[in-house]
Amino acid sequence: MTIEREDQLDGLKRIGLIVARTLEIMRAAAEPGMTTAELDAIGAAAMEQEGAKSAPKTTYNFPGATCISVFPAIAHGIPGSQILRKGQLVNIDVSAEKDGYFADTGASFVLRAQDAKLDALCRDGRRALQIGIDAVKVGGALNAPGIAIEKFARKHRYTLIRNLASHGVGGALHEEPGEIPTWRDMSERRRINEGLVFTLEPFLSLGAGWAVDSKDGWTLFADKPAPTVQYEHTLVATRRGTVITTLAA
Ligand code: CO
Ligand code: CO
Repeated sequence: MTIEREDQLDGLKRIGLIVARTLEIMRAAAEPGMTTAELDAIGAAAMEQEGAKSAPKTTYNFPGATCISVFPAIAHGIPGSQILRKGQLVNIDVSAEKDGYFADTGASFVLRAQDAKLDALCRDGRRALQIGIDAVKVGGALNAPGIAIEKFARKHRYTLIRNLASHGVGGALHEEPGEIPTWRDMSERRRINEGLVFTLEPFLSLGAGWAVDSKDGWTLFADKPAPTVQYEHTLVATRRGTVITTLAA
């Protein structure tokens, strides 16, 4: 969506804070031995308490309140009987709606363990997102974040998943202006208009280039067994600067 009024920004910030806090609550609650369904239930309760509705559930009838993807899954993992183990690379993605406003956030982490390689990947995944956010400017190229992210990824010998895009959000989970490439895309000629609400969610990988479908119809895996992380924020481009609606504090 494109916002035109301050009260719209307020509504986006309210749901942004809810999904950000839900993600933090889930991340803090994730423990080895827990099932992903148990972790999802914690997220569902956190959203319900705030009067928010799970966006994937209401929009796509997704079988869960949140997406929990345990490597080698990289996105859209269905919460279920899978038991979390120490040292696993986990991604939680939370999106929800309240009062007609939507926000979408996600983060990857290593479960209760230190792993030099995966910790570096997570740190750089966050950096890639921040570099993309820093490239957002009203009137600037919609692909500017993707170009900056790809430059960073190449410099540090990472790959990007090229068929999982960022997207418009705000009045629906996925909406105008549609998919936004979070990599360099010469065919992307659009500009960032004032008030545009959209996500940035680069998938940074140690070698994978594509997400592939699986039998359950939801869970996406990487095309190669290469660790892959995703960090996502919902943004509003304004003349005063870029507003990140999905910060927890
Ligand atoms: Co998301
Ligand atoms: Co998203």
